[in-house]
Amino acid sequence: FHGKHMEPRPPIVTVMGHVDHGKTTLLDYIRQTNITAREAGGITQHIGASTVTYEGKNIVFLDTPGHEAFTAMRARGAQATDIAILVVAADDGLMPQTKEAINHARAAGVPIVVAVNKIDKPAARPDRVRQQLSDVGLVPEEWGGDSIMVDVSAKTGEGIPHLLEMVLLVAEMEELRADPTVTPEGIVIEANLDKGKGPVATVIVQQGTLRKGDIILLDTTWGKIRAMLDSRGRQFLKAGPSTPVEILGLTSVPQPGEHFVRVDNEKSARDEISKREQEKRESENVTAKRLTLEELYSQLKEGEIPQLNLLVKTDVQGTNEALCAALEKMGTNEVGINIIHRGVGRIAESDIMLATASNAVVIGFNVRPDKNAERIAEVEGVQIRLYNVIYDVVDDVKAALEGMLT
Ligand code: GTP
Ligand code: NA
Ligand code: MG
Repeated sequence: FHGKHMEPRPPIVTVMGHVDHGKTTLLDYIRQTNITAREAGGITQHIGASTVTYEGKNIVFLDTPGHEAFTAMRARGAQATDIAILVVAADDGLMPQTKEAINHARAAGVPIVVAVNKIDKPAARPDRVRQQLSDVGLVPEEWGGDSIMVDVSAKTGEGIPHLLEMVLLVAEMEELRADPTVTPEGIVIEANLDKGKGPVATVIVQQGTLRKGDIILLDTTWGKIRAMLDSRGRQFLKAGPSTPVEILGLTSVPQPGEHFVRVDNEKSARDEISKREQEKRESENVTAKRLTLEELYSQLKEGEIPQLNLLVKTDVQGTNEALCAALEKMGTNEVGINIIHRGVGRIAESDIMLATASNAVVIGFNVRPDKNAERIAEVEGVQIRLYNVIYDVVDDVKAALEGMLT
């Protein structure tokens, strides 16, 4: 990005890692708040954004969930980010979502700082974590590699100042800059529908300065900013680069990961959105395709026992039972059928997230995906197949199973 008035900006840091390895507790300690205690079941359900000041320098932190159903959110977190803090519990070691987080960070070209957490625990084995990370290509500096690894305890706070210093050091090397004078734009971190406030979105301004009253165009919606709030609910009138703000005034709820940009007037925003909706309706008419062998075969990971993972959504319960029973019967000793989830109703975003995590094909019978689901499926490369005749499903799956054996 080339602006005329480039200025240093705070780093946006995403905290990633396996479920329960201590991401939120670490952030709690850093923020001196206590969010974990308020989370349903202690599981982070969304990406929270907050700004912390350390030694006079601001750092923006994003928290991500570790649960396997939330792959899509971690991918988006990595995309909005300058630096990833990879949290690995020293008693548990490298786990599936640790590896996944590494892959997301690498795919997004984001430098990784490792926090080897829970070192206060008697069972902690920080050197084993270093060995496991070395095996996947993250070799610690003290072993001659170039990965920064810091032993910390999110419980006692040990090592956290050092971790923050390392984050600021990496940020300095990245030479992060932005122009606060250009047209404001940025990215949606999370969004929801609030009963009192209407659509609420947490966004991060990446360039320019966003102001109350600005009209912004997002991927699927638009709005006129009625109010801007920080994570403590304080209102303000403008937000420069690397500032997370909650905005009110959107006409509908956007998806996390959507881009926003300020536009000149309401009419151009409204026209652009109706044009996109029209294009979408036209493309929806051609979505109902049949499964092809190659498509299903490509779902297989190398070296795995062939197994076709399916997620089955239908219009009514009776059909769901009948269809799933028919599909399950088709599995053999050589190729299994695994129905990872079954349900009644439209194909929703949560279905796509589950399918992403399990590499599954989504089968819709007499149902369609909603707009969000379709969008995310496209981003995540999840296949949605729509049918209205059971035999068509069975035929396609049978052909796919045969194809997987050859
Ligand atoms: P998800 O958001 O569900 O993926 O989990 P998370 O990674 O945010 O982990 P969370 O902060 O919820 O912590 C999980 C559990 O580990 C909680 O019971 C914490 O109190 C505990 N914990 C986190 N950090 C430490 C630590 O450094 N030492 C000890 N002893 N316990 C910790
Ligand atoms: Na947790
Ligand atoms: Mg958490």
